[in-house]
Amino acid sequence: MSDELTEIALELRRHLAWQEADGTRLIWKDPNLAAPVVSARSAPAIAVVPKLETGPRRTLDEIRTELGDCKRCKLCGGRTQIVFGSGSPRAELMFVGEAPGADEDQQGMPFVGKAGQLLTKMIEAMKFTRDEVYICNVVKCRPPENRNPEPDEIAACEPFLKAQVASVRPKVLVTLGKFAAQALLKDQTAITRLRGQWREYEGIPLMPTFHPAYLLRVPAEKKLAWGDLQEVMKKLGRTP
Ligand code: URA
Repeated sequence: MSDELTEIALELRRHLAWQEADGTRLIWKDPNLAAPVVSARSAPAIAVVPKLETGPRRTLDEIRTELGDCKRCKLCGGRTQIVFGSGSPRAELMFVGEAPGADEDQQGMPFVGKAGQLLTKMIEAMKFTRDEVYICNVVKCRPPENRNPEPDEIAACEPFLKAQVASVRPKVLVTLGKFAAQALLKDQTAITRLRGQWREYEGIPLMPTFHPAYLLRVPAEKKLAWGDLQEVMKKLGRTP
């Protein structure tokens, strides 16, 4: 196999291993066997994969039902309620934040506190209403004292975030702050470098920008964030 092909195969395998780690059952086809092998982690080194068993696209209600009274991570002990997401299930624009805060935990809705008020202004400046977009967070339960979500908590919630994105299938994703960008992109680059650069998540254009809570603390950065959102408007065919 040429070096280039080997590199492509390795990249494919890395991508699939990542999906497998996320709970997607893969069917690996060993070219020497007549039938595909349904495999867990002990897959052949480089596999031809004819099909991924991802199941049918689920509705947001079905995903919420599956989440249930979630106890998959330690955040369940401190929450008042799960904050799943809000907005249109057919939104063309989807925002992903970090984690519910105290107001969200009380009301069961994402971005309803001070940062949420700024997010609402940002959405309206983009000529959308909150009902027209979809908003959710990387983790669905409030971390104690509003601390950062921890890797095991992000990992426990990730299949649900992934399913929400797959269900809504927006035309554009906007991540708010470093946790959302890093969780979806699997990229530990600082948000100051990630923001403003188009990326892709599962084939969907993704624009990382600053978190509104950060913009409340550092209002001088609002200009940069507005520039990012104008790029999003252009991508959606709306004149900034
Ligand atoms: N910050 C977030 O990241 N999400 C919310 O829902 C509220 C504040």
